[in-house]
Amino acid sequence: MKKIGLFYGANTVKTAAIAKKIQEVFGDSKTDLVPVEHAWEKEFEQYDHLIVGTATWFDGELPTYWDEMIPELKSLNLKGKKVAIFGLGDQVNYPDNFVDGIALLAEAFEFAGASIVGLTSPEGYTFAQSRALKEGTLLGLAIDDDTQPDKTDERIKNWVSQLKKEGFSAK
Ligand SMILES: Cc1cc2nc3c(=O)[nH]c(=O)nc-3n(C[C@H](O)[C@H](O)[C@H](O)COP(=O)(O)O)c2cc1C
Repeated sequence: MKKIGLFYGANTVKTAAIAKKIQEVFGDSKTDLVPVEHAWEKEFEQYDHLIVGTATWFDGELPTYWDEMIPELKSLNLKGKKVAIFGLGDQVNYPDNFVDGIALLAEAFEFAGASIVGLTSPEGYTFAQSRALKEGTLLGLAIDDDTQPDKTDERIKNWVSQLKKEGFSAK
């Protein structure tokens, strides 16, 4: 069993860059970076825990590839695994659908039996609504590199520390 798989959409430029940053901050080569375009469905089951990242496109939708994978993801058996989600978005230009993609992945992975960890506070962001906001908490890490790029590095650092406390260890 491999330890941590970090799945991201490689056709999405900023998401790919953030995935690499998260891997660096994790500081462990045992965190595998897996472009979701090249992942086959069972690959998700090989890992103890998963980190998955997506941008939100098309006013609240998932980008290509993640979108197409949702039915397959729902058919997996991920019971006992922890899944942490990061999502890229733009709170200024898409205030009604800010990082909705986080919620779409959360729904699919929960359906497959995984538990979602790495929840964060919406403090510091300004938006009207987000499907990723549940009971006052975001279902993952929101990165807005479009309008708050200066906050990205610190958000990643804090989130990775949080994940390590929540049991994500590649050691
Ligand atoms: C056509 C288009 C639609 C978008 N829709 C949303 C959206 O609904 N919600 C959101 O938070 N961000 C939205 N965004 C912003 C992107 O998620 C953001 O720019 C992100 O950093 C892009 O990452 P990528 O380069 O990995 O695709 C949209 C951007 C574009 C160009």
